[in-house]
Amino acid sequence: MQSNNQPTNRPAAEPTADTSAPITNHQSPITNSPTDLLRFSTAGSVDDGKSTLIGRLLYDSKAIFEDQMEAVELASRNRGDEYVDLALLTDGLRSEREQGITIDVAYRYFATPKRKFIIADTPGHIQYTRNMVTGASTAELAIILIDARKGVLTQSKRHGFLAALLQIPHLVVAVNKMDLVDYDRKVYQRIVDEYKAFAAKLDINDMVFIPLSALKGDNVVDKSLNMPWYDGTTLLHHLETVNVGTSRNIIDFRFPVQTVVRPNQNFRGFAGQVVSGRIGPGEDIVVLPSGISSRVRSVVTFDGELEEAGVGDSVILTLEDEVDISRGDMIVRKRNLPEKSSQIDATLCWMNEEPMDPNGAYWLIHTTRNVRAFVSELNYKIDVDTMHREQAHTLELNEIGRVQLTTTHPLFFDPYQVNRSTGSFILVDPATNNTVAAGMIRSASRNVGDLVNEAEAEAKRRQSTNVTWEQTGITRSMREELNGHKAAVLWFTGLSGSGKSTIAKALERRLFGLGCRTFFLDGDNLRHGLNGDLGFAPEDRKENIRRAAEVAKLAFAHGNLVLASFISPYQSERDFARTLLPEGRFFEVYVKCDLEVLKRRDPKGLYAKALAGEIKEFTGISAPYEEPAQPDILIESDIQSVDEIVESILARLLRLNVLSSI
Ligand code: ADX
Repeated sequence: MQSNNQPTNRPAAEPTADTSAPITNHQSPITNSPTDLLRFSTAGSVDDGKSTLIGRLLYDSKAIFEDQMEAVELASRNRGDEYVDLALLTDGLRSEREQGITIDVAYRYFATPKRKFIIADTPGHIQYTRNMVTGASTAELAIILIDARKGVLTQSKRHGFLAALLQIPHLVVAVNKMDLVDYDRKVYQRIVDEYKAFAAKLDINDMVFIPLSALKGDNVVDKSLNMPWYDGTTLLHHLETVNVGTSRNIIDFRFPVQTVVRPNQNFRGFAGQVVSGRIGPGEDIVVLPSGISSRVRSVVTFDGELEEAGVGDSVILTLEDEVDISRGDMIVRKRNLPEKSSQIDATLCWMNEEPMDPNGAYWLIHTTRNVRAFVSELNYKIDVDTMHREQAHTLELNEIGRVQLTTTHPLFFDPYQVNRSTGSFILVDPATNNTVAAGMIRSASRNVGDLVNEAEAEAKRRQSTNVTWEQTGITRSMREELNGHKAAVLWFTGLSGSGKSTIAKALERRLFGLGCRTFFLDGDNLRHGLNGDLGFAPEDRKENIRRAAEVAKLAFAHGNLVLASFISPYQSERDFARTLLPEGRFFEVYVKCDLEVLKRRDPKGLYAKALAGEIKEFTGISAPYEEPAQPDILIESDIQSVDEIVESILARLLRLNVLSSI
């Protein structure tokens, strides 16, 4: 892995993924066992002390070589420093390098008896987007450094926003330079409060604050005696004990083929890395894009054959049949296919000095495949300070936007939310061969509507002014940890009588049995009270859904799995509900049932009445129902049994890491 602060020098021919793609998995010299390795990245502004912090970690945990240490001590003494300048360990050691010390500038490895660590260390200049995106692909934790004297800066917020966007599971906000504010608790608390208020808007699972001084060593490796008021852990202790491995996708087997290995007539294998899931001999597979099926004969490594290969393993697969496979193909399990589309809805982080060319064609590098792509639509960019969506014509350096891409060949992908490898890509400028953007796939393109206008309308509608949001101090992630599952909203939509409530009730019973915290929110029930003033005219239905969505949001914030059943006939209203929740926590579940079947079944006798003209504006008869164009979950209640449906939803929730076991 090269340093990513320089444009990579690739040959002018088609770029290759493994040398350029910063966002794909990397092999490391250290074994990739789920719990004994933590990859983390650091982010901070120029003088926040990032290098010193990393130096301190290496120094105090005795993870550096003695000759390096002596060189640093000597260099510090020569400069007349009072303290050993630990930043020298990471900041290049320019003159010291002449003494024969070389230090890797991109990735740093160190180990303690408890765990091994890989730090994606990126020099602290302003190219934070590129740095974080680059280091974050496999990072399970990000340290955001805040200078206690400066407090929460715009950049500190950007880092948090990016960490949330990249779904880095753990965040540490390190309030550094506490020595320069006299270890004052109040200063620390102010920063914590301000950052928490900001982070409440983000989808962050786990956030820990630590007051420290990297220079003096307080709370980095050793507990500080200068801050007796702080009873939390030290940074290293947290790094050693934080629960890792939870973000790895161990379910969906994906094997992008890097090369075909054919040393002699008798052996033909396909080399690559298992980017997610697992595979073993005897398992049925499909090769994409050809769709040809076969079976795995063996899983081969340099050390012999394996019974099973898992996430991160680089192996060679041999198959039972002679199948034509080449670089860029993907081997997957037969019953677990990725999505396929050449219209991609993605979040793009622009990383180039040259702004995005809205008409330009780029190379899109996705796993081991390269295709041509162009931006067919820029929906909005995000103002990271305010989190507002803004209309834009291009994306400039470090800007983040939502785009629709069209590719010349379809991609086989999973949403980034489910799979960080097959859900990410980079864009490369064909003229310069520079990596210009990193992208996270949301889904195949669908009509995203005018999301900017919706967000604006929402802000305008708010009548109450001078109100503040009361924080209870118990965050959603604390609740989620206690509950043992994530919070989410399952939004069941469909015609009256299609089975929304029946399924939601059965699912709730099952979840209750599993010990989950649930919140049942039903159209009929709400119309008995909170929404009793509303009828079924379009404006009333809109208001009905607005209130329901706001209630769902509150219940979500309290850590619940919300089961919301509303006809919600308009796509725009369902999209509105989605905008209230963090990315990936709202699932539009379309309970589809044939209208003729419903008229026959008519459980509440309402269709008969509507057909007789006794109920006005009845959905499906005298009022419209807009079918979800691309629901997150599709249920055909006239075909599947309730039990089957419930089990399939549970399996899906497990796959999405909402539940950790069923
Ligand atoms: S929504 O369209 O505004 O989302 P909601 O789910 O809250 O509807 O309420 C639908 C329930 O109200 C139906 O299940 C049915 O029992 C009852 N209902 C009464 N009148 C109507 C009508 N005109 N159209 C649809 N549902 C109706």
